[in-house]
Amino acid sequence: HPSNFQMEEGSNLRRANCRAKGGAPGFKVAILGAAGGIGQPLSLLLKMNPLVSVLHLYDVVNAPGVTADVSHMDTGAVVRGFLGQPQLESALTGMDLVVIPAGVPRKPGMTRDDLFNINAGIVRTLCEGIAKCCPNAIVNLISNPVNSTVPIAAEVFKKAGTYDPKRLLGVTMLDVVRANTFVAEVLGLDPREVDVPVVGGHAGVTILPLLSQVKPPCSFTTEETEYLTNRIQNGGTEVVEAKAGAGSATLSMAYAAAKFADACLRGLRGDAGIVECSFVASQVTELPFFASKVRLGRTGAEEIYQLGPLNEYERFGLEKAKKELEGSIQKGVSFIRK
Ligand code: NAD
Ligand code: LMR
Repeated sequence: HPSNFQMEEGSNLRRANCRAKGGAPGFKVAILGAAGGIGQPLSLLLKMNPLVSVLHLYDVVNAPGVTADVSHMDTGAVVRGFLGQPQLESALTGMDLVVIPAGVPRKPGMTRDDLFNINAGIVRTLCEGIAKCCPNAIVNLISNPVNSTVPIAAEVFKKAGTYDPKRLLGVTMLDVVRANTFVAEVLGLDPREVDVPVVGGHAGVTILPLLSQVKPPCSFTTEETEYLTNRIQNGGTEVVEAKAGAGSATLSMAYAAAKFADACLRGLRGDAGIVECSFVASQVTELPFFASKVRLGRTGAEEIYQLGPLNEYERFGLEKAKKELEGSIQKGVSFIRK
């Protein structure tokens, strides 16, 4: 008798061939770190995305279990699992989008920068694989500290001769998701109606919500501005402390990553007007990387928007953010150049 695995691969092949012959359009997406706290719910959410035709789940542990589980969902995407470094190249070959939530999370009392020593090496290895096997893929980088891991990825791609700044996107969507939620709470609105730009980076004071640009237009008292800015900047720490040693945000992050990946895929498909915040190579400030609104298109981040008018509170916050960001970016760059 053929094994379950052989039977499934057979039918997967038939489905993939059917798509190639003009079935439903779709993109090939890999999740690196798919068995983790973020990776598992993110696998589930991307398996539900109709724009995904093939979903590759890679991890150094437990990838077969997560793959077997998610593959039983009766949605369109064909799911394949890859376990350990020897299977990294097969996981990456042919991918249109690679989402990276691999790496260790914070415990109470740690900063995101405390994760640098472990996560920098993980991100380097994974990005070397991307440069070799799918150099044209869009990369969504979630692993912390994002303010340093994005510069690390850029340096790896430069070294390999494959760097295209438009295709490397640091995921800061969770800051926007939190900002929308907390601002909606204060305004008494449905969070789905609220849009808060969050710029800068993804750690503490580098997370800069632009409350003067909230849509729908509104105004806040000084107390509300301070409360909201602090809550948005410390949203990650709020979850780390509530989880009390069991990790950091995973479910809200998987939601945010799925939302951001979907925006990237709609951009790749050619949809017009897809705009999200992301930490990218940028000329918006004097720093080489900065998070701001970007327009996503067929080639990635096709346009990077200026910050727009800032009030005095935001201008002060911007200076603080830039000071810290500069060091984090430099730390990432030197990790590869040293
Ligand atoms: P986790 O420990 O639950 O999962 C991480 C997974 O990565 C594990 O399954 C692990 O086996 C895997 N992994 C480790 N080394 C790997 C390698 N070399 N190749 C492939 N996979 C590897 O952690 P988590 O809660 O899912 O968080 C993952 C990362 O995401 C952390 O660095 C965390 O700080 C970060 N994070 C970022 C944001 C953001 O907004 N950008 C939000 C939340 C968490
Ligand atoms: C977050 O913002 O939730 C993540 O960056 C995880 C963390 O360490 O706070």
